[in-house]
Amino acid sequence: MLTTYSLSGLTVVTPASALPGSSIQVDQKKLGRLEGKSKFDLRFGDGFVAFPALINIHDHFNGNYLPKVGPPPGEFYINWATWDRDLKNSDVIKVERARTSVEERYFLSAYKNIFSGVVTANDHFPHEFNEPLIPRLPMRAIRNYTLSHACSSFDLRWGDGFEIEHARAKKMNFPFITHLEEGFDPETQGGIETLEAAGCLDDHTVMIHCIGFSDEDIVKVARAGAHVAWCANSNIFMFNVTCKIKKMLDAGINVAIGTDSTATGSINLLEEMRYGREVYRTMYAEDLSAKTIVNMVTVNPAKAFRIQKETGTLSEGRLADILIVRQQKDDPWESLVAARPEDIELLVQDGSPIFGDARHEELFSGRGVPYTRVAIRGRQMLVKGDPVGLMERVRKAVGFRKVLDFIPLDP
Ligand SMILES: [Fe+2]
Repeated sequence: MLTTYSLSGLTVVTPASALPGSSIQVDQKKLGRLEGKSKFDLRFGDGFVAFPALINIHDHFNGNYLPKVGPPPGEFYINWATWDRDLKNSDVIKVERARTSVEERYFLSAYKNIFSGVVTANDHFPHEFNEPLIPRLPMRAIRNYTLSHACSSFDLRWGDGFEIEHARAKKMNFPFITHLEEGFDPETQGGIETLEAAGCLDDHTVMIHCIGFSDEDIVKVARAGAHVAWCANSNIFMFNVTCKIKKMLDAGINVAIGTDSTATGSINLLEEMRYGREVYRTMYAEDLSAKTIVNMVTVNPAKAFRIQKETGTLSEGRLADILIVRQQKDDPWESLVAARPEDIELLVQDGSPIFGDARHEELFSGRGVPYTRVAIRGRQMLVKGDPVGLMERVRKAVGFRKVLDFIPLDP
């Protein structure tokens, strides 16, 4: 078993700077010094940038399927509840997706994340639903969280009620994760008041969507040190509007970018990073810097999940969660924002490769990772587990040659 190795000749991005000609040492599951070489060294040469592996703050692993389900053309929802009714009544869910198993959908979701450089994600679903599946997935879905669906009288009743779940989060030092203010009816727009009145708005609180926030809400959230998950594609698709993202960032709120499920959101996190940037440009006629966007999928979600001492940055002692992409732009951060699945050179979780160019086969076998050879837009790559066999099972289950855009394997 290959316990220690190094990746050298890279531009290594720490949150603050990019260091060309650097190397990363891996010792078992952790990052060692960011210099020097081990006996087993992979030399990359110019043109590759290393980042911390990405973190998707918001996903629903049972919900990743296509096509999207949304409002009739030209219409938008008043809140998430009307969408939920449409979703559950749609043929794609009731008939087609129902032929696949929960396990198949969880593995599809893991690969959706892996193919976009994500090693850590939250499957926002109750523990009793995902606990049996999470340990078997080929990437990391966090287990240390408490949750609510939306903290309203008509929400989906996930968990034991938001007050109990939030208290549990405080006791266990976990994040308390909930959709909030996803819509414009009076109760939904009172989300922050509801949390505040119950003493549930603090730095454990991670709120998804927040499209109904008033300026006053934003001040309260910033003061409380609570966190926001921004899912622009899902918001625009369902409501034709997203949150007041600029005001939130200017207020100093810790914001992270999430995909939501593909039933409403982007096909993967890389697409969502670009989508969010485009929406920001349209809303404010100014650019959101690539560095800010990269922080929103690395350090910021790590802080929200309270795992910033474990992952989210490339520094000694953290988990060896590494994403290496081809350098396509002069600015290293821009290279990540421009990246697509076929631009990923290597993705490493806990020191072991889970996706990457086929030339790194020795690293896969050296670390004992079971892998499959795949082609993505003509590039020969290796991936942990067997997404090819998975797609075959899904196609057999639905009875036709289903294509899912978040599984970008060549036919
Ligand atoms: Fe969601």
